[in-house]
Amino acid sequence: MILETIVTTQNSEGVVHIAPMGIHVEGDSFIILPFRPSTTLNNFLETKVGVINYCDDVRVFAGCLTGRRDWPLSPAQEISGKVLECALAHSEVEIERIEENATRPKLFCKTVHTAIHAPFKGFNRAQFAVLEAAILISRLELLPLQKIESEIEYLRIGLEKTAGERELEAWGWIMEVLENFKGKTVA
Ligand SMILES: Cc1cc2nc3c(=O)[nH]c(=O)nc-3n(C[C@H](O)[C@H](O)[C@H](O)COP(=O)(O)O)c2cc1C
Repeated sequence: MILETIVTTQNSEGVVHIAPMGIHVEGDSFIILPFRPSTTLNNFLETKVGVINYCDDVRVFAGCLTGRRDWPLSPAQEISGKVLECALAHSEVEIERIEENATRPKLFCKTVHTAIHAPFKGFNRAQFAVLEAAILISRLELLPLQKIESEIEYLRIGLEKTAGERELEAWGWIMEVLENFKGKTVA
């Protein structure tokens, strides 16, 4: 199974990096698969540790992809790292093994500490819509614009029926990037 999470890492000088990552879950272990080039990958290679944050505030996902990476953080407990303050729960992980790959290496992690901060409050279709739209805009250069636009129109249905303020704000950031991209490709 793949879980959409926010991974926080830092380099050997303590500079923190926040990135949405789809984490492959195998029992108690995780595999993180960053596409090269990746700051997340570089940080894991430097420090061997990071934090997987389980977060239902989709503004963090959309924000990281639209230049808004400044989210409140607090210190991790068992590793030198940072936890996203809005995370419902988090796992502090250590890299056990790396499977090298020129495009997308596999980082096999073991959990050293997990903490729960707030209850899971149920599924929301607008959150799904924002996650999918965020993934689409991370592929603007790779996918045909027509496909992106038709998928956005479908996702908009669930969004408009079920969104709260956080989801609407996140959606707005994504639409801004899409409109700018369209402006550039038409010009
Ligand atoms: C829901 C979601 C899941 C993502 N999963 C991955 C992933 O598994 N691997 C990856 O390299 N990028 C993934 N991305 C895109 C990265 O978050 C984005 O490209 C980021 O800048 C990664 O590069 P970095 O490590 O240099 O920050 C995902 C984006 C979203 C919105």
